[in-house]
Amino acid sequence: SIPKFVKIVEVGPRDGLQNEKEIVPTAVKVELIKMLVSSGLTVVEATSFVSPKWVPQLADAKDVMSAIQGIEHSRFPVLTPNIKGFEAAMAAGAKEVAVFAAASESFSQSNINCSIEDSLARYRDVALAAKNHAIPVRGHGRLRYISCVVGCPVEGAVPPSKVAYVAEELYNMGCAEISLGDTIGVGTPGTVIPMLEAVLDVVPVEKLAVHFHDTYGQALSNILLSLQMGISTVDSSISGLGGCPYAKGASGNVATEDVVYMLNGLGVKTNVDLRKLILAGDYISKHLGRPSGSKAAIALRRI
Ligand code: HMG
Ligand code: MG
Repeated sequence: SIPKFVKIVEVGPRDGLQNEKEIVPTAVKVELIKMLVSSGLTVVEATSFVSPKWVPQLADAKDVMSAIQGIEHSRFPVLTPNIKGFEAAMAAGAKEVAVFAAASESFSQSNINCSIEDSLARYRDVALAAKNHAIPVRGHGRLRYISCVVGCPVEGAVPPSKVAYVAEELYNMGCAEISLGDTIGVGTPGTVIPMLEAVLDVVPVEKLAVHFHDTYGQALSNILLSLQMGISTVDSSISGLGGCPYAKGASGNVATEDVVYMLNGLGVKTNVDLRKLILAGDYISKHLGRPSGSKAAIALRRI
């Protein structure tokens, strides 16, 4: 059996845009976020408070946050790699922050310039600061990621035990949600199932989310099996935008339109209006000057 309701975490404005070479104007990012919210998405990862030298595209994080302050009924988590990022996020009005650890040593080094253990120590500081800031709000607040949960661009296969270790550490420091990221999209049901089994041994299923990139076209299969294993939070990106600048060859995230199309077909509720979602996808694809990465959006446009 699969969950009756799935919460979609839209990561397009952050994961989707972070790797874009041409700087997208703040106003376009803000309009995109508004369109995503009006399609019914209640969680939209808005931006990252990271070093602008590392991710120039998101250097306008503060301006994006101030432009979306008035929007109600949606949550706008932001990525924070350290206390400096956390403080900047708080000053900009963020109410939820996401830390991002890796299950592979090499990826941790190339993405956040420190070891897994050092990152966990930093994240304990962030978690403590968040607690002191009266975050979480409504039980959310401190969230999220483990990258390279099945494969690493440098090290290759990643053992499930390594993922379970990092997941348990994040859980113990009070992360309300732990998103398992197949950063380079190499996972198949053959590798994702044992990884999820290992994590489910140490973290309750309701705390887990899955985050698939569609590099090898495996994302929807992996999402379906995650649902079958009881996970009911799924990350996706409008029009399949995305890719991590520090993961060579990583292509887009699974497209939100494709996920909603599949969930509609399964009779799983999302409260997302596919028609409005496609308009948001059209808007950003047009701005970027390229066709949508969502097969469902392209097919529905032809009808
Ligand atoms: P570092 O160079 O080791 O940091 O970078 P540092 O502490 O030595 O500081 C160097 C400079 O950065 C200093 O400035 C700091 O002030 C500044 P300077 O004195 O040279 O002018 N700095 C900051 N500036 C703004 N915001 C901050 C911040 N921290 C330091 N928070 C650091 C370490 C973590 C900062 C850097 O490596 C970084 O920003 N990395 C971000 C990488 C990133 O955003 N990657 C993409 C997201 S992860 C992903 O996409 C995967 C995911 O989608 C899941 C999946 O797909 O699996 C989440
Ligand atoms: Mg990602």
